[in-house]
Amino acid sequence: MTKIYCAIDTPDVARASELARQVSSAGCGVKLGLEFFSNNGPAGVAAISKACPDAKIFLDMKYHDIPNTVAGALRGAARLGVAYVNCHAAGGMEMMKMGLDALADESSKLGLPAPQFLAVTVLTSIDATALTSVGQIGTPPEQVVRLATLTKDSGLAGIVCSGQEIQLVRGALGKDFVLMVPGIRPAGADVGDQKRVMTPREALDAGATHLVIGRPITGAKDPAQAAADILATL
Ligand code: C5P
Repeated sequence: MTKIYCAIDTPDVARASELARQVSSAGCGVKLGLEFFSNNGPAGVAAISKACPDAKIFLDMKYHDIPNTVAGALRGAARLGVAYVNCHAAGGMEMMKMGLDALADESSKLGLPAPQFLAVTVLTSIDATALTSVGQIGTPPEQVVRLATLTKDSGLAGIVCSGQEIQLVRGALGKDFVLMVPGIRPAGADVGDQKRVMTPREALDAGATHLVIGRPITGAKDPAQAAADILATL
């Protein structure tokens, strides 16, 4: 199973393709987000698939809109043949269920496996004050569990969550749930702008199923070697 998804946060499709080729040769998947997609669109995703045909792609779009619009966007994501795609759980159960149905329907029409559908609960950039200011009652951990539960009840495969939330969510929702965890740093690595970090081993031991790791791999002199070194610690 692909355990590490390397966050390739660049608008440059040639650089992204080269990085994707390198990290996938070491056994990593690739996470493409809003920056990459807004600059390069579906053609950019196709270029990455061409550069590393065997690599799994996580399309981190964090969709949040009315159910019909999200479903339409997810049909597009299904056509890209990605392994994972996500939304904001705050979009609600109807949005998540309709999105899930759209992914299944479009994928079956294409004869492709449906992408696994994940949700973001509370962004890690949102603290208690910010949560209150948008009218949410309760603390960030309470909101994380509420939205993770809604995600599971909507039939999605799992959530994207911080390392600090792994045990909380595992305790509340049990084993059978994908926890894709960013904010990971190998021991001794530069923390950068991440405030709370965990090592890859710590995150897996706490119950993460997948890890998102960006700059410790993409900023290394030899990204393939950096990825292989991290995989060797798992
Ligand atoms: O490992 P690095 O800090 O470079 O990874 C950053 C990537 O993880 C970015 O793509 C960012 O969007 C994503 N991410 C994050 N923290 C979150 C959720 C996602 O850093 N809570």
